[in-house]
Amino acid sequence: MTVIPIEALTVFPTVDELDSAAFRHVTAILAQPPEGEKRPLHFVLAGGSTPKRLYERLAAAADIDWSRIHIWFSDERTVWPGHQEANFRMATESLLGNIEIPERNVHRIPGEDDPERAAERYAREIEAHVPLGPERWPEFDLILLGMGEDGHTASLFPGTAALGERSRIAVANEVPQLDTKRITLTFPVLNSGRNVTFLVAGEGKAEALAKVMAGACDAPPASRVHPARGALRWYVDRAAASMLP
Ligand code: 6PG
Repeated sequence: MTVIPIEALTVFPTVDELDSAAFRHVTAILAQPPEGEKRPLHFVLAGGSTPKRLYERLAAAADIDWSRIHIWFSDERTVWPGHQEANFRMATESLLGNIEIPERNVHRIPGEDDPERAAERYAREIEAHVPLGPERWPEFDLILLGMGEDGHTASLFPGTAALGERSRIAVANEVPQLDTKRITLTFPVLNSGRNVTFLVAGEGKAEALAKVMAGACDAPPASRVHPARGALRWYVDRAAASMLP
């Protein structure tokens, strides 16, 4: 079991300060051409509600050149893109619908399709665009992640089959506790990220965060994100950190 290094964790007094720091962090990374190369920068959006405020701030930023940034998703629900639960809808309302970004730069997970076929299609699209890292996994420049109260991240939920996936980039994951399937990136891909940043806020996450940081053998799925070479950051607010020693 891997203990999250304490230097990866930053605790902010309020969620607003967390959002401001996350905005500075993300814009700094988006401003850097990857290793000075001419290739696009590949940015994975987290789903859920926590990142919404950050996405709204990014949409209002005047100096981001979205033409050289490709947008991807950590996971998607098996619903059509306009569904109120679709991560794509949240991202569109808060960011994508409010910036000048070429349509070809936005890579939506087709949640409305057959889940297995959608996961395959998404994996193929990633392979066609995202350069491979030294472990031969797609190496995203920035991956944002959230964490649920049960310690899931992306759609890698406790006790689900996708936790053990070691060969595929994206899978359709049966989530019995939600009585649904979700399409999700897998741990090898998350752990190949050059920058992997969690945004976690609220009292409800405190117990899961304490387990993640303690590195207990029964630690929740989010504790399995520890990039092989990339930088791991946990941006949390004081409420989520309230059970940390
Ligand atoms: C999703 C996300 C999921 C999310 C956590 C936290 O599709 O819901 O990918 O992993 O990040 O559930 O969600 P909140 O930010 O809404 O607490």
